[in-house]
Amino acid sequence: MAVKKILSYPHPLLVRMSTRIDNFDENVASLSRDLIDTMYDADGVGLAAPQIGINKRIFVLDCSREDEEKDCRIVINPEIEHESEDLNSYKEGCLSIPGITEEVFRPKVIKVVYQDINGVLRRNTYDDLWSTCFQHELDHLNGKLFIDRLRPMKKILVKNKLKKSSKLAKKA
Ligand code: CO
Repeated sequence: MAVKKILSYPHPLLVRMSTRIDNFDENVASLSRDLIDTMYDADGVGLAAPQIGINKRIFVLDCSREDEEKDCRIVINPEIEHESEDLNSYKEGCLSIPGITEEVFRPKVIKVVYQDINGVLRRNTYDDLWSTCFQHELDHLNGKLFIDRLRPMKKILVKNKLKKSSKLAKKA
């Protein structure tokens, strides 16, 4: 069990493009275990490697409901092959941006391709919360945060709020 520290906005590693994973070795296996342990420890539904300071294209997610069995997916080198025109909105939050939740619109259904922990190619269709979460985590791998997807005015308001709270944190 290795629970890692989750980086907070505006840490520079959170806005960097992550690189592909080509070796499906023990390092990737151990990174995926760290991501899973850290995600469950923080009560999150997803966590991407850059959030623990590793700029590699891997994330984990588990959007199962509380009354369901745990259903953790490890997603490596993901691509979206198709997205629906229908949008869905969720009040999103992020473990790297504590205290902020905002409504974000994203395609409701996506068809995705990625590699699993053994490097085997997987194709899958994600809907609703799973789709939102997949897209949110994929954004992390491209150095993008959910606040970047807000309308311009909203984004300015949220960024000002974040600036204020990080100044307070420095004083404390
Ligand atoms: Co996030």
